[in-house]
Amino acid sequence: MFDTLGLICMIWWHMMLFHPLHADTQCMESDAQESPIKNVNVDWRRKMELSWESSRNFSEYICTIMDGDEEYIEIEVDSPLCIFPVKIYMPLHKGVSFVIKVPNTNISKQCTYLPGGMNGSAIENFSCVIYNIFLMNCTWQAGRDAPADTQYFLYWQKSIEDNQMECERYIKDENCRNVGCIFQNVSIGIEKAYFLVNGSSKDSLIQFYDEYIDLYKTEILTAPLNVTANCTRDSSGCIITWHPPLTSHEKKAKCFQYEISIQNKDEPKEEKKLPQVWTDTYEFQNYNEKKRYTLKIRARGKNCLVSSNWGEWSEPIEFGQGKDYFIFVILFLIALGTISITLLLYCLSKRYCSLKNIFPPIPQPRDKLISEGDIQIEYVDLPTKSHTEEVTRIEE
Ligand SMILES: *[C@@H]1O[C@H](CO)[C@@H](O)[C@H](O)[C@H]1NC(C)=O
Ligand SMILES: *[C@@H]1O[C@H](CO)[C@@H](O)[C@H](O)[C@H]1NC(C)=O
Ligand SMILES: *[C@@H]1O[C@H](CO)[C@@H](O)[C@H](O)[C@H]1NC(C)=O
Ligand SMILES: *[C@@H]1O[C@H](CO)[C@@H](O)[C@H](O)[C@H]1NC(C)=O
Ligand SMILES: *[C@@H]1O[C@H](CO)[C@@H](O)[C@H](O)[C@H]1NC(C)=O
Ligand SMILES: *[C@@H]1O[C@H](CO)[C@@H](O)[C@H](O)[C@H]1NC(C)=O
Ligand SMILES: *[C@@H]1O[C@H](CO)[C@@H](O)[C@H](O)[C@H]1NC(C)=O
Ligand SMILES: *[C@@H]1O[C@H](CO)[C@@H](O)[C@H](O)[C@H]1NC(C)=O
Ligand SMILES: *[C@@H]1O[C@H](CO)[C@@H](O)[C@H](O)[C@H]1NC(C)=O
Repeated sequence: MFDTLGLICMIWWHMMLFHPLHADTQCMESDAQESPIKNVNVDWRRKMELSWESSRNFSEYICTIMDGDEEYIEIEVDSPLCIFPVKIYMPLHKGVSFVIKVPNTNISKQCTYLPGGMNGSAIENFSCVIYNIFLMNCTWQAGRDAPADTQYFLYWQKSIEDNQMECERYIKDENCRNVGCIFQNVSIGIEKAYFLVNGSSKDSLIQFYDEYIDLYKTEILTAPLNVTANCTRDSSGCIITWHPPLTSHEKKAKCFQYEISIQNKDEPKEEKKLPQVWTDTYEFQNYNEKKRYTLKIRARGKNCLVSSNWGEWSEPIEFGQGKDYFIFVILFLIALGTISITLLLYCLSKRYCSLKNIFPPIPQPRDKLISEGDIQIEYVDLPTKSHTEEVTRIEE
């Protein structure tokens, strides 16, 4: 696009007003003649503002701004000032180009905003994740060509209206270099948040990295709450109920979709991933009372500002009576039967069967008998003793 303009020479270099970031703006003109457009000025601090002076009065100008990914915005103005919409969310670290054109003429001026600093010194692999509702971690890796003494600093702005704040708790590597940041109390808003990581070193200027992020997209949803399975004897199904996961911002139940996993404990390989459901109840039809199941549920967002990645599984809960229960019942019945039969055989092995033989009377303590002086009872006990001896003899 710019080739057609016949760019010829660099006219001037201009240090950016956005002073905390080392960067330069470099402008080129469309022809050798002196351009009527002069003194181009950029101000990113509050709004993205492009202003210039013109030696001739034109009724119309067109400003175009584009970032390294060739996304661009074009606006038309009738005075030498372009104010770009606040929410253009264009990161600056890859460089930004802008063009001022006067329609129906060949007059135009192209300027490029180039981040300064040593190539390869900027951080890489920046990513953030929100977990446990309010906590956020952002991590990065030091630039591969960054000098050993490079230290990085993270600044962020939750939205255009919020102030820029530095990270309060850095995650450090073994060399005490900052490689991440922990945020303690994050709430997800509707606007993209702006993150900037710059750095310093004694030896060289460190390039900065910046990015706009939709915070909700980075959230790992917590598990659905209060998962229950209610299986009643009279119906063949189980009613499974739960509550949506907690989030810092979205409360509507319709924003969540769920995946239910029901696993038969005896066949651990056969995991049933049931169809994704929108409600917060589900009827499990193929319930078999003789089996034992584990149940877990996870959620994701749909059509709302909620992460569309699956969140955490809920703690597995178990339901159903299971084989164990039936084995226990059967073992109990077998044990009961064995005892009954043993007793029966024992009785049959005698000529007669009486309670007295099965449960012989327990002899009373002697001293008690003596103190009472009742000799009669001691005498009555004697035949029992002889009887026991008799039994022993028979068995021999
Ligand atoms: C441009 O127009 C303004 C008024 O609209 C006038 O004051 C100014 O002198 C004009 N400049 C040139 C270079 O013609
Ligand atoms: C631009 O237009 C002017 C006259 O309007 C002309 O003199 C000049 O040669 C043109 N330049 C190019 C590069 O076309
Ligand atoms: C840095 O890399 C860019 C392209 O990636 C290149 O145009 C520029 O000349 C490099 N700067 C230095 C100082 O090497
Ligand atoms: C960033 O991640 C990519 C892919 O995981 C990896 O190849 C690269 O080495 C990482 N960058 C740094 C500086 O470690
Ligand atoms: C966040 O960072 C902390 C501290 O390094 C770590 O313990 C935790 O596992 C991280 N959480 C996630 C989700 O990465
Ligand atoms: C967390 O942030 C909210 C506002 O975003 C604030 O009202 C609350 O007091 C903060 N809580 C803590 C413990 O800092
Ligand atoms: C990094 O950026 C912040 C905010 O823009 C600024 O206050 C700070 O001085 C910068 N640090 C370095 C080392 O450039
Ligand atoms: C989940 O159950 C607990 C009690 O077991 C209750 O206090 C809590 O309010 C329930 N949560 C929801 C979201 O209903
Ligand atoms: C289970 O469902 C039955 C009816 O389907 C109901 O009477 C009972 O209260 C429910 N139990 C629980 C714990 O929800």
